[in-house]
Amino acid sequence: MSPAGTFAGLFFLILAFYCGTDPFKHSAISQFPDFEAYAVDMPPWSQLPIERDTQNLLQKSEIKFLNQVQGPESIAFDPLGRGPYTGVADGRVLFWDGQSWTDFAHTSSNRSELCDPKPSPLSYLKNEHICGRPLGLRFDKKAGDLYIADAYFGLMKVGPEGGLAISLTTEAEGVPLRFTNDLDIDDEGNVYFTDSSTKYQRRNFMQLVFSAENTGRVLKYNPTTKETSVLLRNLQFPNGVSLSKDGSFFVFCEGSIGRLRKYWLKGEKAGTSEVLAVLPGFPDNVRTNEKGDFWVAIHCRRSIYTYFCALYPKIRKFLLKLPIPGKLQYMLHIGGRPHAAIVKYSPEGKLLQILEDSQGKVVKVVSEVEEKDGQLWMGSVLMPFVAVYNFA
Ligand SMILES: *[C@@H]1O[C@H](CO)[C@@H](O)[C@H](O)[C@H]1NC(C)=O
Repeated sequence: MSPAGTFAGLFFLILAFYCGTDPFKHSAISQFPDFEAYAVDMPPWSQLPIERDTQNLLQKSEIKFLNQVQGPESIAFDPLGRGPYTGVADGRVLFWDGQSWTDFAHTSSNRSELCDPKPSPLSYLKNEHICGRPLGLRFDKKAGDLYIADAYFGLMKVGPEGGLAISLTTEAEGVPLRFTNDLDIDDEGNVYFTDSSTKYQRRNFMQLVFSAENTGRVLKYNPTTKETSVLLRNLQFPNGVSLSKDGSFFVFCEGSIGRLRKYWLKGEKAGTSEVLAVLPGFPDNVRTNEKGDFWVAIHCRRSIYTYFCALYPKIRKFLLKLPIPGKLQYMLHIGGRPHAAIVKYSPEGKLLQILEDSQGKVVKVVSEVEEKDGQLWMGSVLMPFVAVYNFA
C-alpha cells in the first residue's frame, strides 16, 4: 500500500473510532444516549413537485415588528378581526392593537426573570419548560376563546380578556403530551391537535428532526366529556392541523416525510386518512383561507442531502456523531441556508401556488401563513419578525 493509502486508511480508522465513541462529546447527539435514527419512507423523487417561484416573489414582503417579537410561530386574528395575536419565545401571547404590542396571555403560572428578554429566539430554549412556549393559536369564533397548543403545557384555553391560560388536557391514553404543536376547532368545539413526539420536547426539535422517530400523534379533545382520544399514532413529527372549510375533514402536516395528510371526519370514509399531497419540502403549520384552500408553510425545501439521510438512517447517525455542533448539522439539513417557501393547495390536493424567497434575502423559515384581506401574514418560530406579503 502506498504511504498515501496507508494514511487515508489510518484516517478513516480513527474517524470511525472517534464517531463510535465520541470521546469529547462534541457531536449533535452526545447529550442523547438513547438517540436512534429511523428511516423515513420518502416518496420517490419523481413524485415530488417540481414547481418553483423563479421570481422569488416573497422578497417583495414587508418585514414588520423587527425585534419586537421573538419567534412568532403562529398568527391569529380574533372573531372581530383584531390583531394579530402571536405566541413568542418567552412564553407570552402578544396582541397587536393597531398601535403597539401588549401582553395578552401566558401559559406558565411560574414565570420569573428566567423568561426575561434575550437576544434571539433560540436563546429561550433552555427555559421553555418553565416559561412555556405557545405554538399553534386558534380563536373559537363563537365564544371568542383563544385555544393554545403549548409545546410543554399541552392544550390550553384563555378567555377573550386574556391572562393565564387554563389547561384542557396534558395526556392521552395515559401517555403525557410532550410536544403539543398545533390545533383546530370544529363547530361543536372538538379540538383536533398534534403531539409531535412523546420522546423529544420542543427544545430538542433538532434531535427530533435528526431522529425522525415515530411517536407523534394526532388527537381529539372532546369538550363535553373532557376526554382526549388518539386518532392516529406512530407518526414522524406531525405538525400543523387545519379543518376543511366544510368541516368534512382536516388536514395535518407530516413533518419528517414532507406530506399533507387528510383525515376524514364525515361521510363513509370518516375515521380514515389518506395522503393529500407530497410537499416540496418539510412543513410546519397549515391554515385554511376563506375560499377553503390550504396554505402550507414550508420550513425548508427538500435537498438531495436530506433525501439521502432520510433513506439511510445508519449513515445519518454516523454523520451526526461527527464533531459538528447541532446547529451546523441542522443547517445542513435545511439546505445550507435559511430560506422561505409557502405553498397553496386546493381541498383536492392540487398545488395552486408557490411563493418563495429561495435565498432567504427577506423572508426565512416560515412557520405559518395566515391569509387575511388580500395579505399573507407569515410567522416564524426562528425569526424576530412577522413578514407580510400583499397579493392584491
Ligand atoms: C418554577 O420555576 C423555577 C425557576 O424559576 C423552577 O426551579 C421550578 O421548578 C418551577 N416550578 C414548577 C412547579 O414548575
